[in-house]
Amino acid sequence: MNDVTKLMIKNAHQALQHAYAPYSKYAVAACLCSEDNHLFTGVNVENSSYGLTLCAETSAICQMIAAGKHHIKSMVILNDRNTLCPPCGACRQRIYEFSSPATRIYLCHQQDVLHDMALDDLLPMAFSLKPLSGQSND
Ligand code: THU
Repeated sequence: MNDVTKLMIKNAHQALQHAYAPYSKYAVAACLCSEDNHLFTGVNVENSSYGLTLCAETSAICQMIAAGKHHIKSMVILNDRNTLCPPCGACRQRIYEFSSPATRIYLCHQQDVLHDMALDDLLPMAFSLKPLSGQSND
């Protein structure tokens, strides 16, 4: 694991305490590294109207966008239970919007990377307005 990934795990772990998850009691944190090596952290933010809940990955992406960056080099995702926390389907599509084939997703527990994945492994044939290679929109 490189130093940036270690720092991302540390940042995510620290942010876990700020997750707002009074309903599920399931705290999640994500830390992403943008193309220019800035780190952005997010946590889940629940709501008494449950469907309005924001996932940690989405919160981190919003932080990145507000800072004017648009490319995710890597993202660490972890929860407060030391179990695997793969991103939900909606977050996979949101991550895809700002990713490239080189983007790495690290599913972590509180100290280590459990799975190091490409987004294409998590979301094969993602929806895009751009045609897939070898495919024409004619
Ligand atoms: N959650 C995330 O933050 N990210 C995911 O990818 C999956 C689920 C949150 C939403 C909710 O606050 C809690 O986990 C339980 O579903």
